[in-house]
Amino acid sequence: MTPPAEPSEEIALARAMAAMAPAGVRTGCRIIREGDETHLLPAEARSIPARQPSMRRASGAARLIAHRLLTDAGFDGFALLRGPSGAPAWPEGITGSLAHDDDMAVAAVAAVAGIGSLGIDVEPALALPDEIFSLVAIPEDRIDAADRQLAGRILFAAKEAVYKAAYPLDREVLGYEDIGVDLKAGRATTMTGRSASLVYCTAPRVVVLAFVEGDRV
Ligand SMILES: CC(C)(COP(=O)(O)OP(=O)(O)OC[C@H]1O[C@@H](n2cnc3c(N)ncnc32)[C@H](O)[C@@H]1OP(=O)(O)O)[C@@H](O)C(=O)NCCC(=O)NCCS
Repeated sequence: MTPPAEPSEEIALARAMAAMAPAGVRTGCRIIREGDETHLLPAEARSIPARQPSMRRASGAARLIAHRLLTDAGFDGFALLRGPSGAPAWPEGITGSLAHDDDMAVAAVAAVAGIGSLGIDVEPALALPDEIFSLVAIPEDRIDAADRQLAGRILFAAKEAVYKAAYPLDREVLGYEDIGVDLKAGRATTMTGRSASLVYCTAPRVVVLAFVEGDRV
């Protein structure tokens, strides 16, 4: 269990994400609070199958951030429905992504033009347990450039972010073994021929943003 997030972490993470995001990419974060499920618009609430209250709270917190980012991008009041695959349905011309860990939600939004398809993941800034690392890492991965303690965690988050960016383009389910990551180069490639660029921060949370290019390599 990670200790509950402090309000100061929300501010620090918002700054860290804004600092790493390329121009044109809007980001935000929010500590998941009691009652955050009420931020789901009625159509959003209907699109999310009945699940644990904690999951609906997390989805509500992520959508509250997304609503604000979409308003800034000119899409006030847009209902961000969850599709049958789990992927959210963004407005035409917009790419975006949501993620949550136990107590922090994050979102990122950008215009498709110039950015491609984006994905995000958030993870606690803790070493990844060895048994999970062995499920996630493949020989092609290059993680030596990253913080030694957190390298496995960043790798895990990078693969999830790449998957969330690639899925809306290809509608193909990928496993960890299908995505090779080079953290030093800030690049990833998928077995399905997609290439992605990566940026990440590690404090106060590990957050990875992935940008998958429109054309397959
Ligand atoms: C997408 C997936 C990896 C998300 O992982 P998670 O740890 O459950 O949850 P996260 O908090 O990181 O992200 C949740 C958000 O991902 C987004 N998401 C879910 N499925 C998605 C998909 N197919 N494409 C893009 N985004 C997706 C949703 O916005 C979701 O938020 P919501 O439930 O509030 O709408 C997982 O749901 C999934 O589909 N896994 C199957 C494939 C897999 O695990 N492969 C190994 C990773 S490469």
